[in-house]
Amino acid sequence: MTTIPSETVLETRHYTDDLFSFRTTRPQSFRFRSGEFAMLGLPQENGKPLLRAYSIASPNWSDDLEFFSIKVPDGPLTSRLANVKPGDQILLRPKPTGTLVLDALLPGRTLWLVSTGTGIAPFASVARDPETYERFERVVLTHTCRKADELQYGIDVVDGIRRDPILSEIVGNRLSHIASVTRENAGPGTLEGRVTDLIRSGELFEASELPAWSPENDRVMICGSTAMIADTRALCEDAGLEEGSNSAPGRFVVEKAFVG
Ligand code: A2P
Repeated sequence: MTTIPSETVLETRHYTDDLFSFRTTRPQSFRFRSGEFAMLGLPQENGKPLLRAYSIASPNWSDDLEFFSIKVPDGPLTSRLANVKPGDQILLRPKPTGTLVLDALLPGRTLWLVSTGTGIAPFASVARDPETYERFERVVLTHTCRKADELQYGIDVVDGIRRDPILSEIVGNRLSHIASVTRENAGPGTLEGRVTDLIRSGELFEASELPAWSPENDRVMICGSTAMIADTRALCEDAGLEEGSNSAPGRFVVEKAFVG
């Protein structure tokens, strides 16, 4: 059995009782494209490592790695991961992979990053990658959660972009962040409703001051639950977009948000 390399936890941050992020060291040899995922986990007493797929939330230029996780009550991995502290070791398998990458999309004008829940993680990476803004004129990050406090991670990522002297210069006003909640009243600056409903009603396009999706201009990345992906995929197909992959780039790509 090959041993899985371990990395050191640098920082943890808890957003709600169920959502947390953590940063770890990054081995020099660990290469990835923004939007990819890796197998990450903890050792077990029986000697077998417990690993799950985790999207890398940090961009590929970052010296360390960031992950955003849900805590599943009694979940064998996430309930333990939620307790890690700076200095602890986690297992991280090299060779990340995934389809939520710029290479899987044809050139276009606007990139839509459509997420629910922890599905925002790969887009936290893509939205912080300067290459995204070389390839697209506009980027719209959508994040829908049940409750407002679950939106905080995405708000912090976008605030971080605006505060970063280099990134803010590159991004300018070309990134829009559209957040919505579905199970409580929306506060200021937040919409109400599922992203799929906001697409159907046109509210998403109104809020981002962009026209509805067209095969010429728009490219979409989708990350959320199985049901959310199915519904958003159908809307992409209705708009005449076709799915892409690493080997055959297209007009939209999907990946399930992993844990949870
Ligand atoms: P809703 O509250 O209406 O179910 P979950 O935690 O269940 O994955 O949900 C995260 C967010 O995704 C919630 O706001 C939820 O809305 C929304 N959602 C769930 N299913 C779908 C779907 N099929 N299409 C779009 N959004 C969805």
